[in-house]
Amino acid sequence: MNPDQTSTGAAQRRGLFRAGDRVQLTDPRGRLHTITLAEGASFHTHRGYLDHDQLLGSPEGSVVRNTAGIEYLAVRPLLADYVLSMPRGAAVVYPKDSGQIVAMADIYPGARVIEAGVGSGALTMSLLRAVGDGGSLHSIERREDFAAIARGNVEGFFGGPHPAWELSVGDLSDVLPTVAEPGTVDRVVLDMLAPWENLDAVAEALAPGGVFISYVATTTQLSRLAEDIRTDGRYTEPEAWESMVRGWHLEGLAVRPQHRMIGHTGFLLTTRRLADGVEAPQRRRRPAKGAYPVAPDGAPAVDDSELWSPEAMGERLVSDKKLRRARRDVGQAPQEA
Ligand SMILES: C[S@@+](CC[C@H](N)C(=O)[O-])C[C@H]1O[C@@H](n2cnc3c(N)ncnc32)[C@H](O)[C@@H]1O
Repeated sequence: MNPDQTSTGAAQRRGLFRAGDRVQLTDPRGRLHTITLAEGASFHTHRGYLDHDQLLGSPEGSVVRNTAGIEYLAVRPLLADYVLSMPRGAAVVYPKDSGQIVAMADIYPGARVIEAGVGSGALTMSLLRAVGDGGSLHSIERREDFAAIARGNVEGFFGGPHPAWELSVGDLSDVLPTVAEPGTVDRVVLDMLAPWENLDAVAEALAPGGVFISYVATTTQLSRLAEDIRTDGRYTEPEAWESMVRGWHLEGLAVRPQHRMIGHTGFLLTTRRLADGVEAPQRRRRPAKGAYPVAPDGAPAVDDSELWSPEAMGERLVSDKKLRRARRDVGQAPQEA
């Protein structure tokens, strides 16, 4: 391969530190600080400061000392570090789940992928890396302010616009039919409160055999989604799982699991689009008695659509002030009227 023809974002992840690079500093206690290098700037803590010029022109993996003699290890943040330190509007998909999504939804270079919602753009970056410059990712987000934060984060990570990425503001079920011909999409990835509301739009867009993967935070959402997929009839039997990652403490003979871990992020569910006119094979096992207390066809006995609010799902609401700050931090401040 011609070394000048590297994939988007690859060149800026290599070489000596330059102005504009994000650099992750680790102090002797393992605390992380992320700075953006600029000539003449300095990084202050309550114990001394460090000139950015000490880092400019140094290789990654350098150790620098501040004015109080505290040593910092300097490296470029990995994608997993970047998503956890970048400005946020909505909660992000954690790297452990992004990895599962890319692997289990079989996101491959060149794939045509639809994603919604975009939130802060964390999952978007993993999807863009997986489809590569020759693939296509169309991300749809209903909130303009979240979309702006996501654009700032994604372009900050790749060093500019990604050639495979398009971002639309709107509701998935309104936007999807306008951006994808029926039966042309390889993969659909949803991370939203009520993914079941979009099963029709997703089934229209997906190619036969295409994968639909959804990330949901609670078992109540998981159950509703699985039952609505079965009722829809255009999808294969859904599969669901969660992943738990437990870090390990490594010190001499004291090798054991760490005491703290992230106990819960979300559940993943996958299913595939059947060919048109095909009926899903009958499930061999009959459901356990009492598994469907509401109605055997999966339809709720009462209209419960009002119940599915962010507050009811335990989502933390983000203040307007915090959102304005996140937009400023990623260079996407709203235009003054
Ligand atoms: C938890 S966030 C997504 C986080 C994102 N995956 C990330 O890793 O940063 C859920 C997003 O879905 C958006 N959303 C919910 N329903 C939607 C819909 N029907 N169409 C488009 N976006 C939707 C919300 O506005 C919110 O920003």
